Amino acid sequence: MDLSMNYGNIEESELYDAQIHFYKHIHNIQSSMALKFAVELGIADAIHNHGKPMTLVELASTLKLNPSKVSILYRIMRLLTHNGFFAKTTSKAKAGEETMYSLTPPSKLLIRGKPMCLAFFAGGHPRYMNMWNYTKKWLLEEKEELSLFESANGETFWEMLNKDSESDNLCFFQEAMEADSHMFKLALKDCKHVFEGLETLVDVGGGTGVVAKLIHEVFPDIKYTVLDQPQVVGNLTGNENLNFVGGDMFKFIPHADAVLLKWILHDWNDELCLKILKNSKEAISGKGKDGKVIIIDMSIDETSDNRELTELQLNFDMVMLTLYNGKEREKKEWEKLIYDAGFSCYKITPIWGFKSLIEVYP
Ligand SMILES: C[S@@+](CC[C@H](N)C(=O)[O-])C[C@H]1O[C@@H](n2cnc3c(N)ncnc32)[C@H](O)[C@@H]1O
Repeated sequence: MDLSMNYGNIEESELYDAQIHFYKHIHNIQSSMALKFAVELGIADAIHNHGKPMTLVELASTLKLNPSKVSILYRIMRLLTHNGFFAKTTSKAKAGEETMYSLTPPSKLLIRGKPMCLAFFAGGHPRYMNMWNYTKKWLLEEKEELSLFESANGETFWEMLNKDSESDNLCFFQEAMEADSHMFKLALKDCKHVFEGLETLVDVGGGTGVVAKLIHEVFPDIKYTVLDQPQVVGNLTGNENLNFVGGDMFKFIPHADAVLLKWILHDWNDELCLKILKNSKEAISGKGKDGKVIIIDMSIDETSDNRELTELQLNFDMVMLTLYNGKEREKKEWEKLIYDAGFSCYKITPIWGFKSLIEVYP
């Protein structure tokens, strides 16, 4: 029997490719879990602390693995090396050739204690993993505004973060945000112009003030306000030019020459984003046409030749959808949101790996 006939005359080779494609995507989770494994064991920290490439046996011993598990470590390192997280070199040893593992740029971002450590993101929080068992329930129920996380766990992601009993989650989350924000230091040189000439700036949802401090290093005269939830900023003290304000961006945003919304709007649906943008417009109203809103977020371009970047952005969109009922937006979606909020013009510039700078004017 010619099996390919069952699929509308596609070539046999295409069926093989289709099978490979399917298995690759189904098993992508193994790559994510290997990364989680590397983070939990502290593999990048071990190699970093060793100060030079390590053999598998050295690595297993430093990680205090049971010697019977060295062959398992080998297979995990093989996958992670293939995926670009470690590099492999061979050197001559008494018993023949020896493989040594070293760090690559992606695994350098896993070293704990470094400002840009992204290890938190490889966590796979149990509630996040579990929610994927509830997709059908979520899609069959009527409440449109529920995220998958809320539908599965009975509380929003923010409620989970803010619960006293699990306050570790809030600290971890803020640490992860801080780490991501440190990258802003690199991006600042490409978007300095938007901060030039500002006397006051309010960073909405500015967390623990990492971005504020980075901007302050370059623009020491700007008076900076960080607005965030009281449980995030309540215990933080600022200085003459840095003021932490506990509040709710859906109710009020302090007045300033410009409003910064970095990694904020992708957390929320269009209706809630409109509220934030309208409050931002009100906040800069004292500056007339010279006020501005500075958004740092993604702008998806499905037609981009950079398929890896687009895949990352589309995956982020799934995270925003399922975790917060938020979304990563395309240019036309940004445009609608910005004009619906009453602004008259905007400019999108890709600045920062997978993110864009979106300047919005009244
Ligand atoms: C994804 S984080 C982004 C943090 C920071 N802007 C950054 O880029 O690292 C979203 C921030 O919004 C804050 N947030 C959530 N709801 C808020 C609200 N209603 N009012 C003010 N801030 C809020 C969170 O506490 C968190 O710090």
